[in-house]
This record gives sequence, C-alpha cells and structure tokens, in this order.
Amino acid sequence: MKKLLVTSALPYANGSIHLGHLLEGVQTDIFVRHQKNIGNECYLFCADDTHGTAIMLAAQKANLSPQEFIKQVHQEHYKDLTSFYIQYDNYYTTDSEENKDLACEIYLKLKTKGYINKREIEQTYCEHDKMFLPDRFIKGTCPKCKAKDQYGDSCEVCGASYNPKDLEDPYCAICGNKPILKSSTHLFVNLPKFQDFLKSWVNKSNLHSGVKNKLQEWFSSGLQEWDISRDGPYFGFEIPEEDNKYFYVWLDAPIGYIASSKNYFQKNNPEKFNEFWKDGQGEIFHFIGKDILYFHTLFWPAMLYAGDYQTPTKVNVHGFLTVNGEKMSKSRGTFIKANTYLKYLDPEHFRFYLATKLNDSLEDIDLNFSDFVNKINSDLIGNIINIFSRTGTSILNKLDRRLGQIDEEGKNLLNHLLSKKVEISENFENLNYSKALKEILKLGDIVNKYINDKAPWITIKTNPENARNVITNALNAGKILMIYLKPVLPEISKKVFEFLDIQDQNYSSLNEFLENKIIHPYQILSTRVEEKNIQTMIQESKESQVIQETKKEDSNFISISDLSKVELRVGKILEANHVEGADKLLNLKVDLGEKGVKNVFAGIKAAYKPQDLLGLKVVVVANLEPRKMKFGISEAMLLATGSGEKLSLFVPHKDADVGDILK
Ligand code: MSP
Ligand code: ZN
Repeated sequence: MKKLLVTSALPYANGSIHLGHLLEGVQTDIFVRHQKNIGNECYLFCADDTHGTAIMLAAQKANLSPQEFIKQVHQEHYKDLTSFYIQYDNYYTTDSEENKDLACEIYLKLKTKGYINKREIEQTYCEHDKMFLPDRFIKGTCPKCKAKDQYGDSCEVCGASYNPKDLEDPYCAICGNKPILKSSTHLFVNLPKFQDFLKSWVNKSNLHSGVKNKLQEWFSSGLQEWDISRDGPYFGFEIPEEDNKYFYVWLDAPIGYIASSKNYFQKNNPEKFNEFWKDGQGEIFHFIGKDILYFHTLFWPAMLYAGDYQTPTKVNVHGFLTVNGEKMSKSRGTFIKANTYLKYLDPEHFRFYLATKLNDSLEDIDLNFSDFVNKINSDLIGNIINIFSRTGTSILNKLDRRLGQIDEEGKNLLNHLLSKKVEISENFENLNYSKALKEILKLGDIVNKYINDKAPWITIKTNPENARNVITNALNAGKILMIYLKPVLPEISKKVFEFLDIQDQNYSSLNEFLENKIIHPYQILSTRVEEKNIQTMIQESKESQVIQETKKEDSNFISISDLSKVELRVGKILEANHVEGADKLLNLKVDLGEKGVKNVFAGIKAAYKPQDLLGLKVVVVANLEPRKMKFGISEAMLLATGSGEKLSLFVPHKDADVGDILK
C-alpha cells in the first residue's frame, strides 16, 4: 500500500472560484479518489492563498479588515469547490499560526545556511498611498506600442513584457498620482546556489517531458536571485530579525501546503506529519497549472531542501481551460464562475466531461459546449446510466426486484470487463483519464449491446427466469463499470451502490457478484443536459460582467445601504422670510410632521418670493447634521436643481402627506 499526500494550488483569496480552478480541483480529486479506490492511503490538502497587496487593497475597498475579508472568501471558496465533490482532508488558509511558524522556520534555515542576500533596490513608490507598488498596481503607456493604461509588467495590446520603470507616463493604479522611484533594502534567495541540487531533483522526480524541457531552458539561461521581501504596509507575515519587512506572498503560499497538512495531522494523526515531510515514508504530489511552474519546480524544491523537508515526488502540470476554443472571456460570457455553473448544470457532468478530455500533458483543455451536451447525453446518460435505467426499473418490478444468477455468457461478459482493470487503473494513475474513460465507455457499449441482443423486455413474456438472469448479468456488469468510474462520478456511483443495496465499493470488491438478492427501487441517477440551460448560464455570466465593469468604471456608485442613510421627507413650508444682510438666503420654517418644524436657511432668494412659498410642499433632507451659519442654525436642506433665477425646488408631483418618508 502506498501513502500519498496530494495538493492543488491554493486559489487567491481575492476572486471567485471559476471553471479554470475547477479543472485543477477535479483533476486532483479524481487522482485522489482513484488512489483510495485501489486501496492506497491518500490525503488531499489545499487552502486559500490569502496574503499580498491585492488582497489587502480588496479588503480596504470592501471596508473590511483583511482577516474578515479572507474569512468570507474562504467560506465561499470552500462551498464552491466542495459542491463539485472535491473531497479535501483540509481546506485551510495561509494566514494561520502553523504557516507563520513554518515560514519563519524555513526562512531562518535559508538564512543560517547562507542562502539569503541583502541589498538595496529601487522600486516604484506612491507618495500618496505611502506604499511600494506591485507591478499590477502601476499603469501607464506601453513603451513599445504606446497603448495607454497598460499594467506595469506587460501590455495587453501588443503582448510586450517590460520593467515597470520603462512604462511611459506611469501612474498609481490606486490613486492616479505619478509614482516616484525609491530605494529600499530587500532580501533575496540565492537560487543559483541551488543549481546542482535542482538539476538532480529534476532528474529523479518523474516530471513530464514538457516540464523538463521548460526547466532545461531555465537552467541554460541561468537562474536568478529571488526577491522574497516586501516593505510594509503589506498583508502577510513579518520577517524575523528585520524591521517592517514582510514575506512576499509567494514565499509563504507553498508553505501553506505543509501548514494545511500540519493543522489536519495534529488533530487526527500526529505521527503522519513527519512520515510525509521529514522521513520520506510517503509520496508528495502537487497539482498545478502551467503558469506557476517556476515557483513549484525551482523555488519550492529549493526551499524544502534548505528547510530540511522532503521534496516533491512529482509536480503534475496541466494546461488551461479554454471555452469553445478560446481563452475564457468575461465579455463573451465564458468566464464562468462555479456558482453560476451550479445554478444551471450538474457538477458531476463537468467532472465527467473533463475526465473524457484530461491527459498528462501541458496542453490546454477545451470545454466545447456542443461536445459537452453530446458527451453527457450520449456517453454518460445514453451509455453508462442507460445500463441501469433499462434493466433496473419496470422490468425488474415485474420480477419482484429479485436478481437471478450469472450464467455462462454473463461470466464471459464480466470477465472481459474485469480483464481491463489494470489498463484502466494505470491510465488513472498516469493522469491519462481520457484513455481510461474511452476504455470504460467501450465496455459500456458492449454491455448495452448485450442487453439489446437479449431483449429481456421481450423474453420476460415467455421465459421470465431467462430475463432475470440477463438483468443480473447486466447489473453486475454495470456495477463493475461504476467501480471504475467512482473517482469521476462520486455521487452517481453512491446512488448506484445504494440501489443495488451494497456497501461502498472499490477495486477490492470488483469480484464480488450480486445474485439471488432483492434490490432497491430505481432512483434517477442523472438527467440529460438541456441546451437552454447552457445559454442562460452564458448570458448570466455576461451580465455579471457588465455589472462588474460599470462598478469599476464609475467609482462614484453608492450602495443601497449608503442611500438609505439619507432621510428624505416631504416638508411643508410654514414661514418664509428675507434674512437681513443676506443676498441669497431665505429663512424658512418647514414642517416635517413627526420630525417637528425645522429652521432652514436656503439659497433660493433669486428664484422665489417668500409669499409664493407659503404652504408649498417640498423635498427635504431631514437628517442632515445641523449647521451653524452666519445668521443662525440650519437644520435641514431643501432639494433643488439649477442656480440663480433658474433654481427650481423639488416638489412632490401629487399631494403628499407632510413628514412622509421618500422611498
Ligand atoms: N495563489 C496562486 C497559487 C499558489 S500555490 C502555492 C495562484 N492562484 S490562482 O487562483 O491564480 O490559481 C490557482 C490554480 O488555478 C493555479 O494552478 C492555476 O494554474 C489554476 N488556474 C487558474 N485559471 C485557470 C484556467 N483557466 N485553467 C486551468 N487552470 C487555471 O496561482
Ligand atoms: Zn497612489
């Protein structure tokens, strides 16, 4: 029996979970469930990646402390991910005590062993916000193609990447002011010193050839020192033995893998921690996307090595999810969030579809919706589910829901299915899920053909015992296929096992056959995909984008709760008088019903004569803080538009009750 500790990359805590994250979550979860299915001991750890400037500013914008902010996001992320049946042993946070201790411990090891260098560097600084600006928070004109409003690291128009210092007319993305260059001391990990170790790690860890090639390129162009410190204000862990310096988020993020497992093992199985991370008695697998390869195959093994922790057995790298052949796009409505998907489609369908496409390469995986409908309706519902729905329903009712015996032909069928066990299992093991699924679907076709050929719905009339045996053969075949598919379809397989009235199954129960027993009534296992649900989902994704965009563009928006702070009431003018010495003001007494009569100085003299105002109903801000003016106290404000002679008071269009609140 093998022992495995598996991780998925930690999603940033400043955005929602989308289908791209779920590609990774599902790929990882299928692997983990497969390990359990074949009898291995396997744990899955993940967490939210919570530190950094972006999250600090997002929290400020939401009027929350970073801790409150990441707590909310954590709940949302966990709900989304587990709704797709991703089964974590622990979904933790990088903002934890365990992580802080581990980050300091590993850093201090790096330092004592002479891997840390210190030097001054110049960086872009905003004097208004009093902070150094990360690349994404500097904007300006692209030095190459002159496109305006591009980020500090790369141009979205021409694709050039550059140093933020080279941007033309740079401005701070937070406040719009021009930043300055300011120097500060930073701490660097001397990565070149790890070159020999890293080369030998790459050779012995069984990385995909595509990943090895990439690493080879990096080695040949020479490894660079890595800046691991950031000046405050920064949401993160303070660096020990330094002043106002914080660990760059990417230092403590992968350590979050260790911390998540530590938090779990300490509660559940304390000796496991050292087994995996110190003694090398288990294997460590990371699943990541191709964009974060550098961090996981260079920095991370180096940190573990220097920190005296076990290095990863394997880093599995997947490509990106594209939708209908293109990069996920907010404006096309293909940037689909987990919770939008869940409103319209079945999470197990996403798992199944991805499984038919996933392999061990770095290539992107395309979610093509017409292919999706086809694969779910024909391959899942029309093939696999069909085995159960055509044998387990009314026909079995007519046979008192009792199974018969597996006959000679049935044994041959089942043996054929079982003979593919090793091939299927190996394909799951090697992340070639698409190959495993292809084989399983081929077997499904064979079982369906068998049922067709035997037509038990006809033979039941003349030879019910024969029909019973055919159904018994078919359902036993279905059970084998469900064990193979269990890592992909956790809920459907659970329902099938309940329906067959058997305990949870795995590879060790493949050879246990069901005969002469009564099974439960059939319950619907899964339903076809409706094309219109996909359209609605895309439409909704587009709309939520429009809302976000307008919010971003017009930062003057107020929320409903902001609006409700303003108390607007109908007021009736009881008195109106000139104010001696004032050119513009009239002094009014305004009746606000239950709020009483208020004294108001209003700048409306050029537009209204006092006698014309008596008895007029107007719109009044009733809860304005009283203001002391030169001529007395003004306790409310009338709403008006225009100025001078053209000033016009807002009045209720129809007769309204005095003191009524406006909604
Ligand atoms: N927080 C870092 C990871 C730290 S791990 C110590 C991060 N977060 S992320 O939220 O941007 O991405 C999390 C994972 O999702 C990464 O592995 C990333 O490659 C993956 N994906 C994000 N978008 C994706 C697609 N569109 N398609 C497939 N995977 C994608 O990076
Ligand atoms: Zn600024």
